[in-house]
Amino acid sequence: MNERANIPVLTIDGPSGSGKGTISKRLAERLGWNYLESGALYRALGIAAINKKLDLSNAKKLTELVDGVDLEFKRNQQGRWVTYLDGEEIQRQLQTEKIGNVASKIAVFPDVRRSLLAKQLTFRQSPGLVADGRDMGSVVFPSADYKVYLTASTEERAKRRYKQLIEKGISANLRDVIQDVEKRDQRDKNRSTSPLMVPEGAVYIDSSCKTIDEVVQQVLDTLKTNRPNNGTNGGLRQ
Ligand code: C5P
Repeated sequence: MNERANIPVLTIDGPSGSGKGTISKRLAERLGWNYLESGALYRALGIAAINKKLDLSNAKKLTELVDGVDLEFKRNQQGRWVTYLDGEEIQRQLQTEKIGNVASKIAVFPDVRRSLLAKQLTFRQSPGLVADGRDMGSVVFPSADYKVYLTASTEERAKRRYKQLIEKGISANLRDVIQDVEKRDQRDKNRSTSPLMVPEGAVYIDSSCKTIDEVVQQVLDTLKTNRPNNGTNGGLRQ
């Protein structure tokens, strides 16, 4: 049996702007578990492809690129996660709408997804993993101990994205952000490989009218009431 199979996993899937990044990071801290931001892998690959001036519709070249990129996620002195591509910090560039869109374009290719799958599985390390993305509970960790699908209305998600961008000093226009969110939803939900969906067995949470703390607490309560049926305590602290 795979030695990682006993390490508990909590998957948090949902569309862009659902708050899954913030919520997943908080949950990882509260549980003392590792964290996988799978969107950052797709985004970083997008940046690497742009740097190498690759044609973003060339699935073969993009797939070859996966093995050639040196990606690292490290915490900085303030405890924030920072992404490095080939030794260079790319955090700011990673968070732009442009790169989010590039990521969702290259994420449609089955071979690209397959190559990134192996990288994602390596994040399953003791004492546990919180994995955030679009296909965490459906494809990457289908037998995860706990699954959550987090969403919010399109308008609410666009407003959150807009606020985040402005706070980071990145210029944005709300109408454009709403359009981007809608376009990205369409692409993520309608692609043939690993489309965004509510994974089987996932707890569905609409965060439109909830604070971050309320959602975090709701997920923690869910973990306590849905412990895996395998005789363990599911990796939770007592
Ligand atoms: O979550 P984030 O906005 O960073 O993801 C960027 C894009 O990467 C998504 O719109 C989606 O197309 C793609 N993605 C994916 N599967 C994941 C995570 C992200 O297809 N597990």
